[in-house]
Amino acid sequence: MSQRRSVVLGTGGYLPERVLTNEDLARMVETSDEWIAARTGIRQRHIAAEDQLTSDLATRAAESALAAAGVEPSAIDLIILATTTPDRTFPATATAVQAKLGIAGGAAFDVQAVCSGFLFALATADSMLRTGLFDTALVLGAETFTRILDWSDRGTCVLFGDGAGGVVLQAQEDVQAGDRGILAHHIRTDGTKGDLLHVDGGVSSTGTIGHVRMQGNQVFRHAVTNISSAVEAVLGETGVGIEEVDWFVPHQANQRILDGVAKRLKLKESKVISTVAGHGNTSAASIPLALWTAVSDGRIKPGDLVLSEAMGGGFSWGATLLRL
Ligand code: ACO
Repeated sequence: MSQRRSVVLGTGGYLPERVLTNEDLARMVETSDEWIAARTGIRQRHIAAEDQLTSDLATRAAESALAAAGVEPSAIDLIILATTTPDRTFPATATAVQAKLGIAGGAAFDVQAVCSGFLFALATADSMLRTGLFDTALVLGAETFTRILDWSDRGTCVLFGDGAGGVVLQAQEDVQAGDRGILAHHIRTDGTKGDLLHVDGGVSSTGTIGHVRMQGNQVFRHAVTNISSAVEAVLGETGVGIEEVDWFVPHQANQRILDGVAKRLKLKESKVISTVAGHGNTSAASIPLALWTAVSDGRIKPGDLVLSEAMGGGFSWGATLLRL
């Protein structure tokens, strides 16, 4: 049966120039390259320049995704930006991206689901494209996450970095079952776990930005279980076996979480895209950055079956299955 389906036409990414290594961090807090690498797999992270906003990073990623897709900005009628670190409380950072790309029409708005944000944005865009509300979307994840870190808290400041990534998603008609496109999403939250990973500030609470606070071992414990259940849900819905998946593109939080999920799902290590060593946890930007990296270096090819997952504050978590 043919149907209207959302197809990824191009991927893009952007990492700021400045790099902060584990050795640099060891001069700021009591930690070491050995500790960080062994517990997380992270070696370095990128830090946005002082005058770079989240919208600047997102715009660079959007430009690279548009170029890869061969799509003009004028063809975009929807921009959904996943971010936890907006330029301003309002308007939505997506509207700043819209202006910077010179796009006059359509709609642009932000989605907030922390590290799962990109998958929530993708599910939202896909729903809107499939129902015919829009035709061609930019789905972005961008963060200046280092601006909400407490640089004296070694339990969190070693984990995160800045960056942006995204895809051009276009609705195509008369797509057959085995063709390209997004096949299934599963997104969930559990608000009762909000305090385990949160920011201790906000507009209506403290009137300040606040800093990231996390009970790392609790997050870790829930991550593998929640991610695995989301993956099982998208596989169950589509009837796809895990052995049919060509590439696993997880949220790049921590190598140990990646390994734990891969092991539980019986996924071959060679199918797992890991970029966490090079940029740490960039929250909503990490999945599109990993996808862009593996598409750019030729590992992920058109037609490949790609499974993605994420888990983050909220708790929020999800999985997406798509054929590139
Ligand atoms: N350097 C050296 N020692 C450290 C550091 C550090 N950077 N951070 C913590 N420690 C110390 C602690 O103080 C503690 O010392 P103590 O035993 O003397 O009290 C010891 O290391 C163990 O602390 P734990 O927090 O129990 O360490 P754990 O083994 O759980 O590792 C980590 C911490 C890496 C944060 C781990 O819990 C983790 O990966 N959690 C997942 C969190 C995550 O990835 N969050 C990202 C957002 S959510 C998401 O994207 C999935």
